[in-house]
Amino acid sequence: MHNIDSYSHLRGESLYIDDLNKQQGTLYGLVFDAPIAHAKILKLDIAKAEDLEGVVKIFTCKDIPGSNQIGGIIPDEPLLAEKDIHFWGQPIAFIVAKSEAIAKKARKLITLKTEALPVVVTAIEAFRNRQFVCKSRTFKIGDTAKAFSQCDYVMEDSTYSNGQEHLYLETQGAYAVCKENGKIKVTSSTQGPTQVQKAIANVLNVGMHQIEVDVLRLGGGFGGKEDQATAWAVMVALAAKTLHKPIKFVLNRHDDLRMTGKRHPYESTFKIGITKDLKIQAFEATFLQNSGAACDLSPAIAERTLFHATNAYSIKNVFTTVHSCKTNLPPNTAFRGFGGPQGMFVIESAIAKAANKLGVPAYKIQEANLLQDNDVFSYGQVATQSEAKNSWQEAFKSFEFEKAFKKVQNFNTQNHNFKKGISVMPICFGISFTNTPMNHARALVHIYQDGSVGFSTGAVEMGQGVNTKLRQIVIQTFGIHKQQVSIETTNTTRVANTSPSAASSTADLNGKALLKACNKLKERLLKVASKSLNCAIADVSFKNNTVYLKKKASDLSWEKLIQTAFLKRVNLSEQGHYATPKIHFDKNTEKGHPFAYHVYGTAITEATVDCLRGTYKIDSVKIVHDFGSSMNMDIDLGQVEGALAQGIGWMTMEEVAYGDDGRLLSNALSTYKVPDVYAMPKIVEVKALDTKGHDLAILKSKAVGEPPLMYGIGTYFAIQNAIKAFNNNYNLKFDAPMTPEKVLKSLYSNAL
Ligand code: MOS
Repeated sequence: MHNIDSYSHLRGESLYIDDLNKQQGTLYGLVFDAPIAHAKILKLDIAKAEDLEGVVKIFTCKDIPGSNQIGGIIPDEPLLAEKDIHFWGQPIAFIVAKSEAIAKKARKLITLKTEALPVVVTAIEAFRNRQFVCKSRTFKIGDTAKAFSQCDYVMEDSTYSNGQEHLYLETQGAYAVCKENGKIKVTSSTQGPTQVQKAIANVLNVGMHQIEVDVLRLGGGFGGKEDQATAWAVMVALAAKTLHKPIKFVLNRHDDLRMTGKRHPYESTFKIGITKDLKIQAFEATFLQNSGAACDLSPAIAERTLFHATNAYSIKNVFTTVHSCKTNLPPNTAFRGFGGPQGMFVIESAIAKAANKLGVPAYKIQEANLLQDNDVFSYGQVATQSEAKNSWQEAFKSFEFEKAFKKVQNFNTQNHNFKKGISVMPICFGISFTNTPMNHARALVHIYQDGSVGFSTGAVEMGQGVNTKLRQIVIQTFGIHKQQVSIETTNTTRVANTSPSAASSTADLNGKALLKACNKLKERLLKVASKSLNCAIADVSFKNNTVYLKKKASDLSWEKLIQTAFLKRVNLSEQGHYATPKIHFDKNTEKGHPFAYHVYGTAITEATVDCLRGTYKIDSVKIVHDFGSSMNMDIDLGQVEGALAQGIGWMTMEEVAYGDDGRLLSNALSTYKVPDVYAMPKIVEVKALDTKGHDLAILKSKAVGEPPLMYGIGTYFAIQNAIKAFNNNYNLKFDAPMTPEKVLKSLYSNAL
């Protein structure tokens, strides 16, 4: 089934925050933000701006009835700055005016006197100052010190992976309207409606029942709207509550880029120990996460770095530590992969380093250490249904790796100005929120008298196709036509206490809750049908809008069945609740079974470097991916391709740049390069691994949102292998993204 949004997307009819019908009297918001990264506020003067014709009110921290606090995990983030500024772009005042143009004029009339304080932009500097946003964490298993002493080779190095801008097509925004009796309804472009509801209630000092949050769809999220959609929604709610007017605020691209956090840059060090037979005996890593000025989701992201620090490999002695370093950047946040990619880049770098030292191709080391059933992760979970070897072997066979490898070698002996590189990138990604209490969801299903069905869940559609998958569940369970089933917006009054749509788990959690609700309804309806047809329940089934009796269509249609049930006063509404079984994690011992299951896959990447110019092309990425038993291959393929593009962008061209003063330099698409169609590999092949899927995945269809991003890491190493083929004296560097500028320098480094 194709994506239910494709029709309206193509016709430009899909609605986003900016397209909503505005109520009469709608006012417009705009943020006045800090023009300095770290300072004391001496004087904020809004008088002149507030006097401007058409300005209704300018809100500062003094206008907040409840708590001036939006920190989700740790309360360390004011909605509007009070005495201090901690990052360039930090919201200080919220301007409300009759038009956006007037609000912009007013912004220029606000003056701010500050006393500058020292600015810290790098994680290492914050680490040296012992500035952290939360506690450091360590995962360990075995005895690394002892293991290193028994290794034939021990290597150490440092790595850097840069941040990444989410660049969702739809920028952040929200629209608030007043309802009766002081209630506020906010339509928000958020991945986490409940988090928004909670934050608004807290800032306005009202109960959550006074606040309704509604989400239709997002024009992309990628993690950037898991936590960071909150501030703007709270601002419009605050203004609506105070002024009794509808308030709209959609950030323009420059404001969005400047004020929001991104993927966390990581500065890391590693030590890897390996024996002659290529077994990795020990691995240590220290990750310095550049968390930015407030905690945001940093602890959870740091944790996932540790969970994925050994990627798809079995390593018996592991010691990994992550420090969440407090800097004067906008709070960095969730981004597809959620710290996992940053962890995997380091182990892959360590393997590349070891391979170089041993004079073997990296894939030999990777292959010798792939995870198998009964291997134990550093966090105590035992691997089951591991597809690491299967996907690896399938990729080697299907894509004729040995042949491709030789071809690359031949090309390199025959060509001087162009060199090719080939790499293999296996992935293993854990599915579940690593914070166990978040792994539950609910759904609400109504069958109407005419047989049509409307349903709601806590899932947020952000382009990933979750609504289509959910609708498939209803259609399949009731055996009815797709035209008869519609999905409602995600709304906190219909489905409450939701976890954000994140961690690749949205379809699993919400789908399972929905399936439970549908099954309960189905059970009731089967009873009604068996009575009507005067037969055993076991003989009845639903298909093609008809009740089937022993596999033959009866003359009882679905519509007739529903009418009958309704007249018999059978409840045609149901809710479902699902909580992932089996998972647990103890943060004191750092051991447990945090993931419902893992997703596996293997990518083979080929790249060609132009050794005169330093430019490169990704020739091909060929992937064997573990979809389980896919519910919707069109959507799942889209997720793999999109995630791959994002991974390639992160590894090769996207350069988030801040000045030493903490100002965002890459503040436009002219200075921040994202992959376009020309940057994509000429060939992208995706083959589904032949597996049965996992019981804890919705209809055995495994989560697909985040894992494929990490295939992009292969591009870094393919390019690096090409550089090495040109310049044998090149010392491997692990400094992503691998931009053409860096490639050119590497091609000629130590060359003489
Ligand atoms: Mo996603 S990066 O777990 O919002």
